[in-house]
Amino acid sequence: MTATLSQPAAATPRTSGHPKGLYVLAMTEMWERFSFYGMRALLVYYMTKQLAFSQEKSSQIYGLYTGLVYLTPFFGGILADRKWGQRKTVIIGGVLMAIGQFLMASEALFYPAMGFIILGNGAFKPNISTQVGSLYPDGDPRRDRAFGIFYVGINVGATLSPLLCGTLGELYGWHYGFILAGVGMIVALIVYIAGSKHLAPDNVMNVAAGAAPKKTVTTKREKQVIWALVILCALNIVFWGVYEQQGNTLALWADSDTDRHILRPFSDWEMPATWYQSFNPAMIFLFTPFLNMYWARQARNGREPLSVAKMAIGCVLLALSFALLIVAAHANRSSLASIWWLVGSTALVTMGELYLSPVGLSLVTKVAPVRMVSMLMGFWFLSSFFGNYMCGFLGIFWEKMSKENFFLMLTVLSAISAVAMWAVIRPLNKALGENQPRPDEDPAPAGALLS
Ligand code: GLN
Ligand code: ALA
Repeated sequence: MTATLSQPAAATPRTSGHPKGLYVLAMTEMWERFSFYGMRALLVYYMTKQLAFSQEKSSQIYGLYTGLVYLTPFFGGILADRKWGQRKTVIIGGVLMAIGQFLMASEALFYPAMGFIILGNGAFKPNISTQVGSLYPDGDPRRDRAFGIFYVGINVGATLSPLLCGTLGELYGWHYGFILAGVGMIVALIVYIAGSKHLAPDNVMNVAAGAAPKKTVTTKREKQVIWALVILCALNIVFWGVYEQQGNTLALWADSDTDRHILRPFSDWEMPATWYQSFNPAMIFLFTPFLNMYWARQARNGREPLSVAKMAIGCVLLALSFALLIVAAHANRSSLASIWWLVGSTALVTMGELYLSPVGLSLVTKVAPVRMVSMLMGFWFLSSFFGNYMCGFLGIFWEKMSKENFFLMLTVLSAISAVAMWAVIRPLNKALGENQPRPDEDPAPAGALLS
């Protein structure tokens, strides 16, 4: 597979320091994630309320579906690199996803609909992400910030869709919510096609041209980096397995165990349960600038943690988030819990995500050997595949345990992953060639809105 991320930049026009193509990609991804998360906000409720699945079955299907959408990107990346190129693959992926969303409107087509979305996402997600990197030449510090802006695009879409698709689906009819998600996907395609002149050229391996592929030898140093990334991705699995409970068991908790009359005593209005799905993405773009300021300040004092240490901090924050929910469940055994418990736990989980997810995306593109960047990006998404599957598996225990014990189990798992990540910080930094940046280097990896 060729590396698509570290190719020289296309001569694209700039908008406030970044190529215009970045904004095309961020807007496209915003609408695609609007579509993806709009459907996901409805999924568990649709299965348990409309399709009358047991909670256990719904959890298994949720885990399998949200897992498989992150398995297919591994193959979607290979397909783009070797055959179709990034643009064509993204467009085909988008069309498949839109078909899937519209098919969701029919109960009878529930499984084929999810199949279309799984295949479509595989073609879409890795290639839209690698196109961000293709806009920047090697070593360009703007690339880190570009991923931050891209991540905010994702989360703007993910915030709006539960409010719109969720409300439509939950209150007025499931199919309206799914159809709106399909419309979002169409908008993503239009934005992408209209803006594609601003993107970097495709990178396709020239196998058909008859030229013998150049044989490359993987050096010992490169092997070290690859192993370090593989270990890191394996350690991330638990993070995603616990984190993704937000769309699964925590969505059920928000629905049945939380008091959503948030305007009392002024009004009796009840917040739709799907709106809880907006808490995390909204906090992502609220927190990103502040976190980047904080990291920049740490960097000026030479104290900014390196990527692996940040990811370990992410796991600690995840554990704290679920520890808070143990208290919430304990304090509200026989009453509805205040919504503030979910606000607090989401704030912690979101900080954890910002310490782990965009940091990891950026790290992969920074340290991976150039010709393997796409493959290793695929590895990054594979940890979400296993993690989401694990999320569904863990969710099976939701009705078999007390809520306190369930949250305790998740807290312990997160704490174990934090300890494991902490234990390997030094060897991994060594293998990845990560050193404390000098104060004059780019201070805000992954996620700066302050560019
Ligand atoms: N929430 C982010 C997205 O949807 C990251 C998800 C992941 O990597 N598992 O793109
Ligand atoms: N926070 C989730 C992600 O970044 C929604 O997409």
